[in-house]
Amino acid sequence: MKGRKTAGSNNNINIFSIFMLVFSMFVFGVFFMFSEDLKSLAEFSFFNPNSSQQIQQKPPPQQQQEYSNNNVTETSKAQLHQMEKKEEEEEEHHEKEKIELTDTVIVDKEEEEEEEETVELPPGECDLFTGEWVFDNVSHPLYKEEECEFLTEQVTCMKNGRPDSMYQSWRWQPRDCSLPKLKAKVLLEKLRGKRLMFVGDSLNRNQWESMICLVQSAVPQGKKTLDKSGSISVFKLEDYNATVEFHWAPFINVDYLVFNTYIWWMNTPTMKVLRGSFDEGSTEYDEVERPIAYGRVLNTWSKWVEDNIDPNRTKVFFNSMSPLHIRSADWNNPDGIKCAKETTPIPSTSTPQVGTDRRLFVIANNVTQSMKVPVNFINITTLSEFRKDAHTSIYTIRQGKLLTPEQQANPATYADCIHWCLPGLPDTWNEFLYARIISQS
Ligand SMILES: *[C@@H]1O[C@H](CO)[C@@H](O)[C@H](O)[C@H]1NC(C)=O
Ligand SMILES: *[C@@H]1O[C@H](CO)[C@@H](O)[C@H](O)[C@H]1NC(C)=O
Ligand SMILES: *[C@@H]1O[C@H](CO)[C@@H](O)[C@H](O)[C@H]1NC(C)=O
Ligand SMILES: *[C@@H]1O[C@H](CO)[C@@H](O)[C@H](O)[C@H]1NC(C)=O
Ligand SMILES: *[C@@H]1O[C@H](CO)[C@@H](O)[C@H](O)[C@H]1NC(C)=O
Ligand SMILES: *[C@@H]1O[C@H](CO)[C@@H](O)[C@H](O)[C@H]1NC(C)=O
Ligand SMILES: *[C@@H]1O[C@H](CO)[C@@H](O)[C@H](O)[C@H]1NC(C)=O
Repeated sequence: MKGRKTAGSNNNINIFSIFMLVFSMFVFGVFFMFSEDLKSLAEFSFFNPNSSQQIQQKPPPQQQQEYSNNNVTETSKAQLHQMEKKEEEEEEHHEKEKIELTDTVIVDKEEEEEEEETVELPPGECDLFTGEWVFDNVSHPLYKEEECEFLTEQVTCMKNGRPDSMYQSWRWQPRDCSLPKLKAKVLLEKLRGKRLMFVGDSLNRNQWESMICLVQSAVPQGKKTLDKSGSISVFKLEDYNATVEFHWAPFINVDYLVFNTYIWWMNTPTMKVLRGSFDEGSTEYDEVERPIAYGRVLNTWSKWVEDNIDPNRTKVFFNSMSPLHIRSADWNNPDGIKCAKETTPIPSTSTPQVGTDRRLFVIANNVTQSMKVPVNFINITTLSEFRKDAHTSIYTIRQGKLLTPEQQANPATYADCIHWCLPGLPDTWNEFLYARIISQS
């Protein structure tokens, strides 16, 4: 890695050259469903009670002009600026780690094998999401934790002290076909001259980090750079003129304001939604039921997509909700503490019930399937529900710092059962993405 470039280098990329967009509404799944782990999300700007109640995030300057009705008030601009700064400081912290790591990184070990570019595609009608987890430590993990210098400390569970490693070696086996073997060079050929953009929250960032690790080994040192500036992170692959980007901003131009209080979250099935626009100084709130609020947000999102995306140029993917594992009673482990200490998936013979609000899933599926722009719905919810073993748990960071031994000894409070270790489950989500991308001409 050549090191960090300064902000702005990606601003000249026109939004309309986007090739693939991967969205998620994870934030709402998470948002609606639980409370205690909220604190572990607080470091992400979406959840800062003071500055980020507004779901909207500031797009890069160039884009701001293009989204003409993205009219942010001066006050909220200042707030946004503040939280970006905060995040940048965190990134800085990660960046230092990475620079230390670069010396020991091993690259291009399997170059020869990858030269064979035969690709077997699953039949188009095969349901990739119905199947089971199979332990397969020959083919998985798809990369090694210590070989991907781009992983942030949040997700490097083994480096952070996790003693077991089986969670890295489960392969998703669809019932009626197989996922194609992920070949970085094949994917990069598809991405040549294009942008793959993940838009969303910290869970989408989880998946973006995974994607970087999956492709980076195909590109030699010095031909790849990672630029992080504020709410945008861009991984550039020089030889392919391709980028893999992450943008904080699930709803550019959205006018909803969600109240981030613990109370409604915990005790009521409703949430408050600002009527009208924050920028217009509206102060009236509607109390609405979760699914209704979710439906509204998704409809706003779908309008945005239909108004801004040319389906001839851009493929749109939508990830269904990422589940949480916060009640060990859900998988009949009365001695468990949230997801901490779980080392194997829920057996495939059972049907996991981990508290996911299925109504939101149905809405997301429905909305995405009835849009004018075709949207690839990546149905990861159920298959991820099996993976109680795959969360970062106590082997992660909180407010930018590794958990202390005292915090680690208290998983009931500190285990993060939202985010996922890497290598790990998000690699499988990307295997689905890969299957879809290479299937399209
Ligand atoms: C939020 O803002 C108020 C007043 O500006 C301040 O007293 C409080 O500490 C802030 N809380 C957080 C979590 O930043
Ligand atoms: C933004 O809002 C201000 C004040 O409401 C208005 O004067 C300005 O024209 C708006 N800009 C855009 C781009 O809509
Ligand atoms: C999503 O996948 C699960 C299995 O993982 C399946 O049971 C369910 O029917 C799928 N839902 C949709 C809408 O495809
Ligand atoms: C794979 O797992 C089996 C059974 O746990 C173990 O014996 C073997 O050493 C593992 N192989 C690798 C490459 O980790
Ligand atoms: C690189 O890709 C961009 C689109 O992302 C395109 O506009 C540009 O012309 C490409 N540059 C080269 C040298 O191919
Ligand atoms: C997409 O391509 C089709 C066929 O090439 C064309 O008829 C259609 O107008 C295009 N749509 C847009 C939005 O450009
Ligand atoms: C799905 O969406 C359509 C049109 O948006 C609506 O008429 C229908 O009631 C929805 N179904 C469900 C189950 O939400």
